[in-house]
Order: sequence, then structure tokens, then C-alpha cells
Amino acid sequence: MIEHERIVIVGAGHVGATAAYALMLRALFEEIVLIDSDLALAEAEAADLSDANALARPARIWAGSYADAATARIAVITAGAATHGSESRLSVASQSAMIVTTCVGELVQAGFAGIILVAANPVDVMTLMALRRSGFASAKVIGTGTLLDTSRLKQTLAESLQVTPGSIDGLVLGEHGDSEVAAFSTVRVGGLPLSEFCPPGQELDQGQIATEVRDAGYRIVQGKGYTSFGVATAIVRICEAILRNERAVLPVSTLLTGQYGIADVCLSLPCILGAGGVERILSPALTPSETAALNASARALQQVLAHMDL
Ligand code: LAC
Repeated sequence: MIEHERIVIVGAGHVGATAAYALMLRALFEEIVLIDSDLALAEAEAADLSDANALARPARIWAGSYADAATARIAVITAGAATHGSESRLSVASQSAMIVTTCVGELVQAGFAGIILVAANPVDVMTLMALRRSGFASAKVIGTGTLLDTSRLKQTLAESLQVTPGSIDGLVLGEHGDSEVAAFSTVRVGGLPLSEFCPPGQELDQGQIATEVRDAGYRIVQGKGYTSFGVATAIVRICEAILRNERAVLPVSTLLTGQYGIADVCLSLPCILGAGGVERILSPALTPSETAALNASARALQQVLAHMDL
């Protein structure tokens, strides 16, 4: 019986620290451990976060070591190479692979047996890397994937449709990156497809919206040098679904086993998430062009994987 629900966050950079802050405010875990090779950074972030304890729901937050992971429910891997300017996420795969390989090896050696949640980019490649290096069941190694992109799609559609984002269903699938697929055929507003919700003559420019969603991360990086709040909130949402055994359907990066003819690559499809991690992968009906784009996304990832030692 675990006395206190614990999460470890590997990487105390912008994403890791922001995720820790969001997790604290949501009071999901009694214990939040920040692990970073830069101990001074981890200790400073933990101290800063702990200053909020008297004002928020108290949690024990400290800069720890991999030994602290042994009893953790979830380990979030945010440590990875950063992209700059217009660098694609896939362009830093080899640098991130060295970091993620080390992190996963340390977690396994420390006896961690919970769920690994990967946020390091390129997240789909790193999720497969973590899966292979950990030897865990694929259900227990999850990437944040296109949950963030799906949120961006809903936010963008909400502005055009004048409906709150939470009332829009729809999915971005595939790579969390340049080859992602905004599956407009899955969009519903009150059960209505866009073709019925949008009055004649007021149809949306789906190509423009897809480009805006795909490039959102680049715009933010160009303005502030990194992204943090969106992906940190995706991390929290996934942790919440696991910790509360919600069986929530969320698009996350997972190992495909033949869906749409795709296998041996991690990319995002809607998954039922619960205490065991990915409990079921769903394959929604897509248009032929969406299916082709999803296969192209898989190929883009497999081209990078072909040059890596997995
Ligand atoms: C982004 C990063 C997490 O899209 O890839 O914000």
C-alpha cells in the first residue's frame, strides 16, 4: 500500500518546473520530486514551489534522486534537447535520445515500476525510445503526443465558431510535429459535423487552421524561447486520468500495433487512459486523405527511427 501518491519529474527546466507547479495547484499528488543533473536548479525550483505550500493544498516538494522514483506512481520525462527558432522537433532526436536513454536507465535501475510519461521532444520518437529502453509493457509508456495540438485545434476552432473550446470534439493525430494530422472529419459541435454546424458560405479554411495549429509551437518558441504552459497542462491532464482511473479518451502517443496499417512506431491516436495507462487504442473512422496523411506521419517518424539505435 503506497502511503503517499508520489510523482517524479525528470528535468527541472521550463516544462518540468511548470508541470510541477500545475500538479501542485491541482493537488493530485502528496509528493512531487524534481530530478535534474543540475541539482542547484532542482533545489531552487523545489524551494520556490514549496513557498506556495502554505497558500495551496500542501504537498511535499523536493529536489531528489532516482532513488526517490522507486515508489512513484508516474515518472514524467521532460529532460531533452531544446529546439530553437525554426528547428523541427525531429531535428534534435539524437541529442534527446542520449538524455532519455540515461533517464530511463536510471529509473529502471532505481526500481521504478509505474507509468512513464514522456514529454521530451521529439516526443513520439522519445516515447518509443523509453519503451524499448525500459522493457515495460507498451500500456505503461505514454507520450504527451498530440493532446496539446488537439487542445490548440479546439482553441482555434472556438475562436472561429464562437463556441467554448470544451464544447468542441475533434482530434489531431499522428506526430506531435510537422506531419501531424488535423482530422477535421472527427470534429463535432453538439454532435454536428462542421459541414452542418457552419452555415452555407461560412465554411472554415481548414488548411489555414491546420497550419496555424501545427505552427503554434514555433510561434511561441520564437517569442519566448520555449513553450511550457500548454505541454505542462497536457502532462497534468494525463496524470489526472491515470491517477483517478478516469478511463478518459485522450489523444496520446502510444505504440501502434497495426492500426491503419501502422506498427512499431509511437504516434497519437485516441486512447482510453486509466490506472494501467493506455487501456485501449481507438481507431476512429477517417477520410481517405486523413488516413493517407496519418500513414505519411508514421513514415516521417520511421525515417528518423531508421537512423537510431533502438
Ligand atoms: C509544443 C512543444 C511541447 O508544441 O513541442 O509546445
